[in-house]
Amino acid sequence: MANIIDFTNEIEQAKYSSLVKNALSHRTSSSAEIITFGCQQNEADSERIAGLCSLMGFDTNPAGSMSSDEISVAGLIIINTCAIREHAELKALSNTGRLKKLKETNPELILGICGCMVQEKHRFDQIKKSYPYVDFMLGTDSIHKLPEVLWRVISEQRRIYGVSALPHSELGVIEENMPVLRKSPFKVWVPIMYGCNNFCTYCVVPRVRGHERSRSEAAIIEEVKTLLDGGCKEITLLGQNVNSYSGENGGFVKLLENLLSLDGDFRLRFMTSHPKDASDELIELMNHPKMAKHFHLPFQAGSDRILKLMNRRYTKEKYLERALKIRQASPDCAITTDVICGFPGETAEEFEETLEVVRAVEFDTLFSFVFSPRKGTPAANFDDQISHDEKIRRFEKLTKLTNSLSEKRNSLLVGKTERVLCDTEADNEGFSGGKSSQNKLIRFQNPENQIKVGEFADVEITEAFRASLNGKLL
Ligand code: SAH
Ligand code: SF4
Ligand code: F3S
Repeated sequence: MANIIDFTNEIEQAKYSSLVKNALSHRTSSSAEIITFGCQQNEADSERIAGLCSLMGFDTNPAGSMSSDEISVAGLIIINTCAIREHAELKALSNTGRLKKLKETNPELILGICGCMVQEKHRFDQIKKSYPYVDFMLGTDSIHKLPEVLWRVISEQRRIYGVSALPHSELGVIEENMPVLRKSPFKVWVPIMYGCNNFCTYCVVPRVRGHERSRSEAAIIEEVKTLLDGGCKEITLLGQNVNSYSGENGGFVKLLENLLSLDGDFRLRFMTSHPKDASDELIELMNHPKMAKHFHLPFQAGSDRILKLMNRRYTKEKYLERALKIRQASPDCAITTDVICGFPGETAEEFEETLEVVRAVEFDTLFSFVFSPRKGTPAANFDDQISHDEKIRRFEKLTKLTNSLSEKRNSLLVGKTERVLCDTEADNEGFSGGKSSQNKLIRFQNPENQIKVGEFADVEITEAFRASLNGKLL
């Protein structure tokens, strides 16, 4: 797939950024808050939005950490929205609604909505009509246009929409030259591709993020090298289906091999892998010492009939074969998954097949979701929509089973040594926290902050709980 790199925009960004910067010096507030909903891709986008805000002279960070007092005097608030389930959209809309009062008390405030939700025509129209105090909307592929859009809001004193129609053409633009203000210097997201071509029948992502586009391998390697030189310890490669990455030197496994051969004490993660494309080569690579021992492999449903209706393009048997292959090839590797409860037409017996898969694989963690019909997706119009109460009953049954399995998997780690990347300073009780290679939350005694935030520590696990483990420093 061809990639078009939009170099010209770097000049545009600089031009409009300096115009905004100049305008800011005449305004009362130059602080910016970014409120982020949704997945890691959105978090990575917010880091680019924060980078651009900083370039324009705003005082900001991508963590969305302002107190309500600080928010009340902010000069710019951007809500980065998610559309994956109705709940995510309602949360973003209620946040937007709450900001109306702020606009009344602080008329200089500029309010923008971006992310996946504004790519849906009905939501775009709804915001345009019912939230007249929203100053701008910006689409998922137009983040680099933020300086231009803001300048036009300020100079033309009217609402501006920087949302292009999706799906993208085959030649979707990838903007490589955006400044990035990262939440953490040692634990970072690196998007390797955008969009998705899988069109699972329940999913809005291909409709709001467009067709798959891969970044060039050279650009990814350059970015990772710079991050490692800056002391970064953990890199998570992001894509909706990383297995279909296609760079100038080959596919995803080739990219991983090239990244794993870079110098430095670091570990590499990736999200998300589609079971239909999780190859033997990828599974074997999990044993590489620099590869984090965590495989997220969503299976969504256990029944072959439901999988077919979902357009997932694998069977229960194929999924089990892949998961058990990971267990066998890399016994230390954690496996996590996503499941949807109550897909249209799913019978009680078919849901039992989901539980069967869960019992067979014994996932380390399972993220379960109640099916949410998304406007424009085929599954929203399927017959036999399951009642809300029944979806919740299935969700609760699944949660009970997965909680007991998570506890069981974690208890197997007691007595073992885990390499933890410390991410918090010692609390009042002297405990620091961090993630293990398996991506499990580990708390450990860290007297006098012997291990600094951003450093690796070898920790012997002493106690296991469902969602975390305790250990002592070796
Ligand atoms: N690209 C990733 C998933 C992205 S969305 C993948 O294919 O694995 C994250 C999860 O949200 C999905 O795995 C699915 O379990 C859930 N999800 C997506 N659409 C949904 C919907 N309409 N209702 C409920 N859950 C949904
Ligand atoms: Fe959605 Fe399926 Fe693509 Fe994942 S693979 S983003 S679930 S369409
Ligand atoms: Fe992510 Fe939500 Fe968009 S899950 S891709 S932010 S719809």
